[in-house]
Amino acid sequence: MSILDRHKSVETNATLLLVLSFLVVTIGGIVEIAPLFYLQNTIEKVEGMRPYSPLELKGREIYQREGCYVCHSQMIRPFRDEVERYGHYSLAAESMYDHPFQWGSKRTGPDLARIGDRYSNEWHVQHLIEPRSVVPESIMPSYSFLADTDLDATNIAGHLKTNRMLGVPYDDEMIENALADMRDQANPDADWDGLLARYPKAKTGDFDGNPNRLTEMDAVIAYLQMLGTLVDFSTFDPEANAR
Ligand code: HEC
Repeated sequence: MSILDRHKSVETNATLLLVLSFLVVTIGGIVEIAPLFYLQNTIEKVEGMRPYSPLELKGREIYQREGCYVCHSQMIRPFRDEVERYGHYSLAAESMYDHPFQWGSKRTGPDLARIGDRYSNEWHVQHLIEPRSVVPESIMPSYSFLADTDLDATNIAGHLKTNRMLGVPYDDEMIENALADMRDQANPDADWDGLLARYPKAKTGDFDGNPNRLTEMDAVIAYLQMLGTLVDFSTFDPEANAR
């Protein structure tokens, strides 16, 4: 029987065609679905990563609201020019608690993945109020209103809970203390022991230069100052994380 005849016998026999189609679709389905069962194994765990503190999470929300990601990426590619300019290339794990991630797709301004600790809080306040006062050739817009806008504390605990539903490991203690942690982080007179135990390496103290008021400026700077600072690259070993 030639190949054409064999094909014809399959196409003219409805039951056989159905059984063989089903077989092909089943194999295709298994090939697509099976890797999903091993997804957990492909997620590298990197020491130092922790969920955002409530104030950082708020700052991140404002960063998204204001469209900072339209001009700024948060993704240092493993190329020499990028690594020399910005620091260690970004690890996938550094975005693991980002919903959604802020990698961005265009750099009108510089990458911000490792902006934390690079400038003082005062520099950021000046720069966000009037970018040209510190970088004369800057084309970045002014965000001076952040310093005059009280931070909206409504339902910060709910914000953490929503992130927990998406897989961010906020525990009950973190959710219970969310509002207090958010206020304390920017309060120079607060006791930060609990906050720092829950969110190691969080930057604390007054950010916006106005210790009596909790503003959106406080939140954005708390967020910027922690970006890229959680993983200690002096001890980071990429081989130890590779499987
Ligand atoms: C229209 C594009 C644009 C938008 C939107 C924008 N920026 Fe910028 N940003 C720039 C440019 C250009 C620079 C480089 C010049 C300068 O430092 O001002 C810059 C610089 C910066 C720097 C200093 C980076 C460095 O390494 O020196 C920070 C921090 C920053 N921006 C934060 C923000 C934040 C936060 C927002 C949102 C509230 C934002 N930017 C929105 C264009 C933008």
